[in-house]
Amino acid sequence: MKRTLLVIGAKGMLGRDLVGVLHSSFPDDEVVGWDIEEIDIQKEGESVFKIGKLRPNIVIHVAAYTDVDGCERDEEKAFAVNAEGTKHVALAALRCRAKLIYLSTDYVFDGIRREPYVESDLPHPLNAYGRSKWQGEQYAQELVKNGLIIRAQWLYGRYGKNFVASILQQAREKKALSIVNDQIGSPTYTVDLAKAISVLIQFNAQGVFHVANSDWCTWFAFGQAILNLSGMNEVKVIPISSEELDRPAVRPSYSVFNCQKLKEKTGLTLRPWSEALNDYMATYRLTIDEPDSREGR
Ligand SMILES: NC(=O)c1ccc[n+]([C@@H]2O[C@H](COP(=O)([O-])OP(=O)(O)OC[C@H]3O[C@@H](n4cnc5c(N)ncnc54)[C@H](OP(=O)(O)O)[C@@H]3O)[C@@H](O)[C@H]2O)c1
Repeated sequence: MKRTLLVIGAKGMLGRDLVGVLHSSFPDDEVVGWDIEEIDIQKEGESVFKIGKLRPNIVIHVAAYTDVDGCERDEEKAFAVNAEGTKHVALAALRCRAKLIYLSTDYVFDGIRREPYVESDLPHPLNAYGRSKWQGEQYAQELVKNGLIIRAQWLYGRYGKNFVASILQQAREKKALSIVNDQIGSPTYTVDLAKAISVLIQFNAQGVFHVANSDWCTWFAFGQAILNLSGMNEVKVIPISSEELDRPAVRPSYSVFNCQKLKEKTGLTLRPWSEALNDYMATYRLTIDEPDSREGR
């Protein structure tokens, strides 16, 4: 039977790649992509009505207010979109008996642990973004039984503001870059994450799953790798502390995921982050000579 898969947040960085991957993975199904122009998840009535009218079999909710420092400055908006918005999507999914898949984040954890986080570790967010996403997880879990929550981290991809684009842009303008060297995580390519989401759908996975490219690094090491691959080796990279950077939102110093549960359920292990980065930069020819000509939105 032909199913309808609805992606909410379809014009975001992950959403764009996800819609493409779902089309290829499920050619017999209908894939519908909505973003803020089609549905404002902050509005309960609109969300329930529009999703109810479409009657999707699966709702993949990747819409969010993702500006971490913006969330810190405006926690009300963070909760209105990331927590209450998710509640509205979950209520709509419940009403039309759709499976709900919700994208969450490593920022639900405080980073105090020094071993990779497993799904059952207790969240304790340090910032407003993390708190709002954690509340979103709780709504998703309480309202829709048998749903799927996927926690991701350190995303970069073709269609959105991200660390890779930002480093390349800065490197074209400056001779030296200061990059934080006391936060550890796993940079993850949105295409790899999108493929993992489609595999989790194929396996009808339920519950919470951690998904990230393998291996880990600091933002500093990630930045160095980007510059090396782009041929901008002459740009100096200076390691600094999070305290020196002094951003409004506190970030966890350790965000590494244990992704064993994903492997046990599906057999899948995502490739190392360095391999994925190499592939990404080669695919889009992100070099010193070729400015990133992303389409954006
Ligand atoms: N980026 C990361 O490093 C990261 C890490 C871990 C988890 N995640 C999670 O992964 C998911 C995708 O992240 P992303 O980086 O791809 O995000 P993104 O590029 O910011 O995309 C999110 C999309 O949601 C839309 N949106 C915002 N408010 C909305 C509303 N009220 N109603 C409907 N749509 C709305 C945004 O539209 P506008 O652009 O117009 O606001 C945007 O198109 C999110 O759930 C995020 O929390 C991201």
